Amino acid sequence: MVKICCIGAGYVGGPTMAVIALKCPEIEVAVVDISLQRIAQWNSESLPIFEPGLDEVVKACRGRNLFFSSDVEKHVAEADIVFVSVNTPTKTRGLGAGKAADLTYWESAARMIADVSRSDKIVVEKSTVPVKTAEAIEKILTHNNKGINFQILSNPEFLAEGTAIDDLFKPDRVLIGGRETPDGQRAVASLKAVYAHWVPEDRILTTNLWSAELSKLAANAFLAQRISSVNAMSALCEATGADVSEVAFAIGKDSRIGPRFLNSSVGFGGSCFQKDILNLVYICECNGLAEVASYWKQVVHINDYQKNRFVKRVVSSMFNTVSGKKIAVLGFAFKKDTGDTRETPAIDVCNGLLGDKALLSIYDPQVSEEQIRRDLAMNKFDWDHPQHLQPLSPTASSNSVRVVWDAYEATKDAHGICILTEWDEFRKLDFRKIYAAMQKPAFVFDGRNIVNVDELRDIGFIVYSIGKPLDPWVKDLPASS
Ligand code: UDX
Ligand code: ADP
Repeated sequence: MVKICCIGAGYVGGPTMAVIALKCPEIEVAVVDISLQRIAQWNSESLPIFEPGLDEVVKACRGRNLFFSSDVEKHVAEADIVFVSVNTPTKTRGLGAGKAADLTYWESAARMIADVSRSDKIVVEKSTVPVKTAEAIEKILTHNNKGINFQILSNPEFLAEGTAIDDLFKPDRVLIGGRETPDGQRAVASLKAVYAHWVPEDRILTTNLWSAELSKLAANAFLAQRISSVNAMSALCEATGADVSEVAFAIGKDSRIGPRFLNSSVGFGGSCFQKDILNLVYICECNGLAEVASYWKQVVHINDYQKNRFVKRVVSSMFNTVSGKKIAVLGFAFKKDTGDTRETPAIDVCNGLLGDKALLSIYDPQVSEEQIRRDLAMNKFDWDHPQHLQPLSPTASSNSVRVVWDAYEATKDAHGICILTEWDEFRKLDFRKIYAAMQKPAFVFDGRNIVNVDELRDIGFIVYSIGKPLDPWVKDLPASS
């Protein structure tokens, strides 16, 4: 019987291992983490992450062949295959600060594997890492002088949050990179056999290690680039009277471009896109490829521009000041169907509005008040450095921020509404009722293009929706600097 251990019970490790356990009943899967609290949550009724379908999968196999444990060393020692799915934050100081990946967690996991292992193991890079990380890990593992054979594989995860279980059940592809030696190829075949329990063979791609590592960074860079491209077009649409949804639909009909991932928004968020592009930029710079680095850097630059542009649009539309005005923020998660707020555009938008002295009333169906306050008080990149996180001061921004548990409560007496996450429930709101309870003129700033602009204008709202023809009210304002 094969035993699998996954180090890191996060957004990637937890759901991925749960699906492997479900699909491979004869394999024992242990998910381990240094965070006792995380492990306790995985063993409880209330899982640490919100992900549609995850509860059912975990319930079907927890205690059968899926175990969550904080006894990291025991499970690593017993495993044949060890997945490593720990955080790889952006460095905040030293060489490459603000770009390079900080491999502290990875390195300490590798050293621990080398220390506790008594039998040969396949070590799988699951978390996204810089190209050539496998080489460094190999050095740490093979210098143990114990005669143990470690094979390193790269098996990046392509799941997206909110659809993780579907993505894992029916992946577009599974990518496995390994050494081109007989031992390396045997390790690739062993991991392939795990996925072959449910993934058709032609969807399991095998490559060399560096291609697999780079493909993950490249895939995220291409996806993020699509969003920055359509967001760049949204600014031009607003300036010209074109409608970004119509433009995206028209270009998406070209089968070479394709229709998906072309929704203009207030900006992309999530734990991967910005981090992976900055990492890619750093790798390019280290390899002397300055032009390639600056090309990809622009994708992040446009994303920052889009968030700033949104804040400017809110402030300039509301008579150039939001000081003392109540702004309802609907949605804080970085996308719908997740409670994850890592790099959510809502943080920059809220901080921008708070900088202009707005009073925020925030509602998100899945994000807790503590998380929102913590996010608004946090330094850039600190979310992925648990050791930097301070206990939350009870007074942090408490005067200007209220967190409420209902969209109607959030919008009551508000001067304006900012929609920052595309939760389905926001599409069904009774905007007549909301309008009646707001200050006038009442503004809606839709950062996700989910409201029916004409209907809202008929009700009486002044409406701004990303990349759509501007409301006459907004259009006639002097351009904001
Ligand atoms: C992404 C990749 O999709 C996934 O393959 C990889 O494994 C991890 O990174 P994730 O960050 O979970 O997944 O979500 P994704 O659906 O890609 O959305 C990322 C951000 O882009 C969100 O803020 C989303 O709202 C935004 N987005 C997405 C848009 O603004 N427009 C779109 O058309 C699509
Ligand atoms: P991802 O989104 O990539 O899954 P997360 O931050 O959600 O990332 O999860 C990473 C997990 O890895 C965290 O729960 C963290 O506690 C855990 N972790 C980090 N280093 C180690 C380690 N050396 N041993 C065990 N767990 C670790």
